[in-house]
Parts: sequence; structure tokens; C-alpha cells
Amino acid sequence: MDRRMWPFLAFAVVVAAMVPMPALGRFVVEKSSVRVLAPEHIRGHHDAAIGNFGVPDYGGTLTGVVIYPDAKATGCAEFPKKFKSKSGRPVILLLDRGECYFALKSWNAQEAGAAAVLIADSVDEQLLTMDTPEASPATEYIDKINIPSALVNRAFGESLKRMAEKAEAEGEVVVKLDWRESMPHPDERVEYELWTNSNDECGPRCDEQAAFVKSFRGHAQILERGGYARFTPHYITWYCPEAFKLTRQCQSQCINHGRYCAPDPEQDFGAGYEGKDVVVENLRQLCVHRVANDTGRPWAWWDYAMDYKLRCSMKEKKYSKTCAEDVVTSLGLPLEKVLECMGDPEADAENAVLSKEQVDQIGRGSRGDVTILPTLVINDVQYRGKLERTAVLKAVCAGFKEGTEPHVCLSDDIETNECLHRNGGCWQDKATNVTACRDTYRGRVCECPVVNGVQYEGDGYTHCKAVGPGRCALNHGGCWSETRGERTFSACSDNALTGCRCPAGFQGDGHTCVDLDECKEKLACTCADCRCNNTWGSYECGCSKGNQIYIRGEDVCIASSMSRFGWLVGILVVSCAAGLGVAGYVFYKYRLRSYMDSEIMAIMSQYMPLDSQNNEHQPLRQHASEA
Ligand SMILES: *[C@@H]1O[C@H](CO)[C@@H](O)[C@H](O)[C@H]1NC(C)=O
Ligand SMILES: *[C@@H]1O[C@H](CO)[C@@H](O)[C@H](O)[C@H]1NC(C)=O
Ligand SMILES: *[C@@H]1O[C@H](CO)[C@@H](O)[C@H](O)[C@H]1NC(C)=O
Repeated sequence: MDRRMWPFLAFAVVVAAMVPMPALGRFVVEKSSVRVLAPEHIRGHHDAAIGNFGVPDYGGTLTGVVIYPDAKATGCAEFPKKFKSKSGRPVILLLDRGECYFALKSWNAQEAGAAAVLIADSVDEQLLTMDTPEASPATEYIDKINIPSALVNRAFGESLKRMAEKAEAEGEVVVKLDWRESMPHPDERVEYELWTNSNDECGPRCDEQAAFVKSFRGHAQILERGGYARFTPHYITWYCPEAFKLTRQCQSQCINHGRYCAPDPEQDFGAGYEGKDVVVENLRQLCVHRVANDTGRPWAWWDYAMDYKLRCSMKEKKYSKTCAEDVVTSLGLPLEKVLECMGDPEADAENAVLSKEQVDQIGRGSRGDVTILPTLVINDVQYRGKLERTAVLKAVCAGFKEGTEPHVCLSDDIETNECLHRNGGCWQDKATNVTACRDTYRGRVCECPVVNGVQYEGDGYTHCKAVGPGRCALNHGGCWSETRGERTFSACSDNALTGCRCPAGFQGDGHTCVDLDECKEKLACTCADCRCNNTWGSYECGCSKGNQIYIRGEDVCIASSMSRFGWLVGILVVSCAAGLGVAGYVFYKYRLRSYMDSEIMAIMSQYMPLDSQNNEHQPLRQHASEA
């Protein structure tokens, strides 16, 4: 019962008796056909009800052999071995209804190698649609089911079982499952609609819708731009019965005096977002589609729906009018038209847009009442199977008259060119043309890029910043820079991995820097006699009196009576004095030494004879040894 609205409804009855528009459900069971080809004597055609899970092969057929397992015919437990047919044809596993979820039977069959599953009803009744169980960790397998499943009535099921059991003797039971008529395909244009909700906090059901919008968007836009399809988004609304209009619950969950309501996202009236926040956003999304449609770009709804979920999530507390309006503007849609379309939610009056939604909610023709979220309706028939890109594309493509399928139906290897239009609403640096917009076959994405090895970081919509080494090479990393004459200053430094800082001599936030007036700020040339001259990015200091010189290291002006020439003379005099001093010292040392030499000689001559008074350099010891 997961995707049904009944839990919502039950909840609503408890709190405020909110009523969905089609108060009594009119349900249509979508069918495929089963044609028995062999054995001869039971040939014939039967209906089967398409299950709400797995992937029905819309527009296609599958011929296979029916196998009815000997044991565990309910399929509630894993099968011990893989099933194979003698002829090598695909296996269509026939299982009994009961004891566990339909989806679990299908999953076990898929795991055992079945190409499709037929489930035989256990009671005589009209065919019914097998639903998906409540999503939980225990039912994670649901998403992995990719085979088709269908329910057949009890009588047909019984005869298939009997024949399958006699297969050894009488030959295999061959049937052809056929979905070609499950989807009407009257012409070369497909009309389809998705009943959804802007609430993003309802668990797996909301996550599934968000994931689908994101992944199917590219296909949807190609189909609509090419004129192949017309898509209309729809939103379920509830209303508050007259007697409850003034209750707190109705006032917090409804707009226009109880006419249009949605359940409180957190189911808590005191906290978080209220039901009416959801109704207003649903209304805005309907208006975005209308306005986009009027401007010839109805596909812009897909961008809005995806961007809104990404940028304005409830989880991040951004589910707001301001955020929504930023998204509208970023997509180039006229905001005033959207506001005009939305009207006044406080007014005690009908809202044309939401009233039409309530009328459309009521089933007509081949389509039942819309009571399940999400509901996809293609060519006025409710789509069965999982809400997943390729499964849905297959179903949409089955809606074209044979031979008129667009290229997208034959191949999904295609790119969109949305970045060419207003840069896809993504961030872009005007100076360098660096953009966060990237076209993919699933539609455009806004992601900060890597350019020449430089990584950009940000939300991709309103801001991206270059980070890491090399960032300054590209337009100074988005920081301030200016060139005058031959001088360039930049607020980007490769030494810092992020951010902008004004260089020395400038002040500002790094995105704008102005010259710092060191003179006015008294940062330099502060001495009494100093004279300061500010320059761009620096300063010059001098002294106010002609006979002073400025010493930069000390930030002082030194008084001097000497002229320039006088200084030269002074230096000369000082150096001469120094030179004389050195010469005098050398002379004195020489003299001292000569004096001492002669003194020693005089003393020594008193003790030993000398050959000659003149022979003072002869060694004394030589004479002594010869004696
Ligand atoms: C979108 O525009 C077409 C005409 O261009 C119109 O027929 C259709 O009804 C419009 N759809 C909506 C939902 O307004
Ligand atoms: C950016 O793109 C515009 C338009 O395509 C072009 O005129 C401009 O020269 C480009 N600038 C740079 C830096 O590539
Ligand atoms: C200040 O510096 C500028 C540029 O270097 C120069 O043109 C100007 O004459 C200087 N002013 C004084 C008072 O020194």
C-alpha cells in the first residue's frame, strides 16, 4: 500500500478530515495479454494485470516457457537453483498468490533466472493491480526488480499449472506475454503527465520522485523540444470540509480558506514546515510550468523542479519563497508572471490553477482517479512499473504510432544543448568564460568545473571559486588585480590555496583593493622633518629641509651642515687621518723592533767575543762548536 494515498487520507481524517478531491476512488486495472501458443489444445488469449513494480515491457512481447516449481510455489523463499527450460527459451515462472508480498515473489523469481513472473490468483475475482509494499530496509529488493510481473485469474492459473506439471509427457507450455496494446499509440505525439509533490521530506516516496525528475529530465526535454511529446505536471491537493475550516490543523495545512491543502511534511503542527508551505510551492511549480509554456519553453519545468529540490530542500531549511524565486530568476522566467498566476493564497476565493488540478484528479476514460503519489499517466493510461528512467522511456516510446518514434527512443546516447541557453542558469565567470554548466544526456548539470587543472568549488549555481595551486594563472583566481603602466598588482597569491588578499600597499576585501595612503595613515615618514609622498602601491619619503638626508631603515631625517662637496672633503680628511695613523703605527713598530735588536746585541757582546762588529748576522752557535 506504500504509494497509495490512503495512509495520507487516514492521517488527514484523524487530524482535520482533509479530503482528497476524488473522495471515492475509481480504479482502473491496466492489463497486458497472455497468449498460449502450446500445447495446441489450450491455445487462447487471456488478460493479465500489470504489477506496480518491476519493468513491464511496454510496446514489446516476450515468448517463454511456463514453469511451475514443484516446491515453494509461493516464491516467498529463495529458490535453491536456477530455472532453465529444455528448449532454452526464457523462463516464465508461475507462482501462487499468498503468504508474502507480490514483489518478493518477483524478486526471488528474478534471482532464480526467470525472465517474467505470472502470479495465479487464489480466489475467483476481478483482476487486481499488484501493489508495491511499503518501502523499508527489508524491501530494498524492490528497486532491483527489472523483470515484468502480472497477475492472472484463478481459473487460467489452474489450467496453466496443470499443463506445466504434465510438461514431461505433453511438451512445454509456451506463452507469449504481450504489452503492445497496454499503451495506446494513436498518433505521433505522446501526451503524458506526472502527478507529484514538492514535499521532499516524505522518505523513499519523495526520494524516488526527485531521482526520477533528475534522471528523466534530459529525455523529457528532448521529447518536448522536438514536438514529440507534451508533458504536464500535476499536483494532488486536498480540501478541508466546511465544519473544520477554522481548526488550527486546517489553517496550517490549507490556503485560500481551506480550499487547497496538503499534509504537514513532518506530521507535526508545531515544528518545521506546514502543509500550506507545500501547497504554495506546488502552486508555484504549476505556475512555473504555465508561464514556461506560455513563453514556448514548457520543458523549463524540469529544470525548475530539479533545481528547486537541489537548492531549496527542507532538510537544509531552504524550502522558501526567496529560494524558489532565485531559481525562477536563474532560469530566465518572468517572476512577475509567476506571481500573477499564483494569486493571493490568503484570499477567500477559488484559485483557478488549483481548482483545475482538483478536477483533473478525478478519473476519466481509460484513467482512474489519481490516488497514488507519484502517478505517471501516458496517453491517458496509468503507467505501471517502477518510476525509473529507462523503464519510463520505454513506456513513453510505446505511446508513438509505429514508425514515428523519435531518435531518443532508439538510442539514449544523446546530449542536450541546454548550456547554450542562458548558460543553463548555472554560474559563469564573465571574465574568463569559465562555466559550471555541462550538458549530459540526462540534461544539463551545474557543477563547478576543473579548468586547466585548476579546481573550482561552490554550489555551481551562484558561486564557484578556484582553489589550489595554479589558480592565480586564470584571471587572478577571480581576485582583484590592476595594471598601471608596467606595474601589475594582484590579490591572488599562489602561496594561499584559497581566498584573495590585497597585496602590501593596498587595502580592501581582495575583490576590490584600493591604494593604501601610507602618508595619510601615518604608516611611514613619520619623523618631524619627514616629507611623505604617496604613490600607487607604495610611498616615497624625503626630508622637508634641504640640508637633511632621510635614512629609510630608521625613518629619520639627519641634519647635516655639509654640502655634498663638503662631505667628500670630510671623507677625504678622515681617510687621510686614518691612513696616517696606520703608517705611524707601522713606523713605530719597526722602530721599536730595531731598538730592541740593538739592545740585545749590546747585552750579548758583553759575554762573548765577536769576530767582527759588522758581522752581526752570523749565527753565534757556529763559532762555539769549532772552538
Ligand atoms: C501549453 O501551451 C499549449 C499551446 O502552446 C496549450 O495548448 C496548452 O494547453 C498549454 N498547457 C498548459 C498546461 O497551459
Ligand atoms: C567569452 O565569450 C564571449 C562570447 O562568446 C567572447 O566574446 C569573449 O571573447 C570570451 N572571452 C574569453 C576570455 O574567452
Ligand atoms: C611625488 O611622487 C610623484 C611620482 O613619483 C612625483 O611626480 C611628485 O613630484 C612627487 N611629489 C613630491 C612632493 O615629491
